[in-house]
Amino acid sequence: MIQKSTIDRIMEATDIVEVIGEFVQLKKRGANYVGLSPFANERTPSFTVSPAKGIFKDFSTGKGGSAVTFLMELEKFSYPEALKWLAKKYGIEVEETVEAPENREEELRRESLMIVSAFAAKFFHETMLETEEGQSIGLSYFKERGFTAETIKKFELGYSPDQWEAFTGKALREGYKEPFLVESGLSVKRDNGALYDRYRGRVMFPIHSFTGRVIGFGGRTLKKDKNVAKYVNSPESEIYHKSNVLYGLYFAKKAIREQDNCYLVEGYADVLSVHQAGVENVVASSGTSLTTEQIKLIARFTKNITILYDGDAAGIKASLRGLDMILEEGLNVKVVLFPDGHDPDSFVQSKGSSAFKKHIEENKKDFILYKTQILLKEVANDPIKKADVIREVVESIAKIPDSIKASVFIKECSGLLQIDERALLSELNKMRAAKAKKEEQQRQQQNNRFAEMPDEPHFFDEPVELEPPVAKDDAFQEKEIVRLLLHYGGRMIDWDGIANTYIGPFIIAELSDVAFEHQVCKQITEIYRREVENGVLPDDNYFIHHKDKGIVDLTINMLASKYSLSENWYEMHRITVNDEQVNMKATILGAIFHLKKHKVGKMLEDLRSQLQKADSEADQEILLNQYMRMKKVEKSISDFLGSVIIK
Ligand code: CTP
Ligand code: MN
Repeated sequence: MIQKSTIDRIMEATDIVEVIGEFVQLKKRGANYVGLSPFANERTPSFTVSPAKGIFKDFSTGKGGSAVTFLMELEKFSYPEALKWLAKKYGIEVEETVEAPENREEELRRESLMIVSAFAAKFFHETMLETEEGQSIGLSYFKERGFTAETIKKFELGYSPDQWEAFTGKALREGYKEPFLVESGLSVKRDNGALYDRYRGRVMFPIHSFTGRVIGFGGRTLKKDKNVAKYVNSPESEIYHKSNVLYGLYFAKKAIREQDNCYLVEGYADVLSVHQAGVENVVASSGTSLTTEQIKLIARFTKNITILYDGDAAGIKASLRGLDMILEEGLNVKVVLFPDGHDPDSFVQSKGSSAFKKHIEENKKDFILYKTQILLKEVANDPIKKADVIREVVESIAKIPDSIKASVFIKECSGLLQIDERALLSELNKMRAAKAKKEEQQRQQQNNRFAEMPDEPHFFDEPVELEPPVAKDDAFQEKEIVRLLLHYGGRMIDWDGIANTYIGPFIIAELSDVAFEHQVCKQITEIYRREVENGVLPDDNYFIHHKDKGIVDLTINMLASKYSLSENWYEMHRITVNDEQVNMKATILGAIFHLKKHKVGKMLEDLRSQLQKADSEADQEILLNQYMRMKKVEKSISDFLGSVIIK
């Protein structure tokens, strides 16, 4: 947990225009700044930043909040990640409070691993740029492959010397601890206990987390020898889980969001070359088949994936089934093939950026249609094979969660497969039903497992008292009214302007337009009203001896907690307990109008959400008018509250 004092300092330093300005082009308009929403595709700017209030509001998606909220929405940071990002930007040292011991230890270990990885990346990078061996072997290799100095710097490419302990020795001398060197995989431990470098004589690709920290490495050999592994990668560690990392995501995410599409390639070199060619929305699965976690990572930024394949037909066929997983996550998948012998890297390096972009535009195909075509090629006139193909295609379509989208594919594929649309649809429905049944069975099994667990002893023996579902502070305001009724209801009003009235009936009359939500408060005020109408002024004894247990309990509570005013507005306005009776006017009017203000606040909230849902302009206008009127009511209540408590 980040310390409160650190959070305060971060908040103080944060300039929301500056922060959002890193992601959105903002123009000053009056006191505010406006720009195009980063959360939606829009042509007219509806995204507004108010530097005075320190907030943003995106009218096209309804999102809004502080700089921290913005980072969480846009970069998908967690709350602490967003704070740390700001702290880094403004050079604030983050102090964290001590967590539960085991978390703390784990956190420290992870942090140590990241620190040693960052050190290693720097070492490899500098070694390549500044040593003779680095320049003549590593740097010249990258240059030969067409990588610019800018790319090399941005991706922190490096070189690990062809020696046994160039890195390990340096790291140990600088005080990095052996366990972290070993767990990160940077060093390997011999049987005799000595350490040596894992990546000797390899060019190094640091792998960044999506917040930009180095968490692992890929090291490529420069030898042609077939017996040497082409790549040596970081082992799994507490900071590096291969299955949920995408190479290049940190550098790609902004462009992915802007283009609303993510290119997926296979290797490190592909990412670098494509990125360098100005197509920055590119990531690599690093040679492994795509995992669900990786897909979810992409889905945070876009729902569209375009897979760039090199021209190896066997490989493509093998991977077709794996792609159903992407459909299952609700993403749209397109594929682009490159001519035989080319991968995206070699294509863009040899033919240039615009030929590359053109190739993509002209060759991208929807995955399902592409798959259908490929499979069809093998059918010839074999009806059994054709049935298999149909089943396989419909299987893919059945994975699409959006049924409208699915039915569009059914239509298109019925054309390609030359089979009646209805036949495909019935096949689809059969698969869906089977899937639903299977899921139901799994749920059932899950429930059975719960059922087998022993009951908590006596759990159901005692009646459970449930609070009615009311927002906490609302209930508080309502209880406050009840408290005042019980304490002072029978007193005469002694403030100017109003005479010969009791406080109780006055409160009840003033609140005749307010609907109480807290069940017991509602009962008490209703009883109170009825009795007053009958000419009776109920006192606290009346409620203490009421037959309803709920009423009795609340009454006792309110009477007992005579002066427990913590949390309420009196304290906020620095009115002390003694003042309550000295200034009855402020006390009573304050409580009445504070409750009203809450109710108005709720109505405003309700109108706001209706506004967001309203799609006809006429509805919007009516709602907006109501909203403005209600805003005025709120304002006048606030003003009144302000004036009434100034003695
Ligand atoms: N890969 C790996 N281990 C290997 C081979 C490949 O981890 N022994 C991963 C790497 O992430 C690599 C990707 O698979 O980037 C694609 O492999 P390949 O096409 O062979 O490598 P390229 O990155 O294209 O390397 P180059 O162009 O330099 O040959
Ligand atoms: Mn390659």
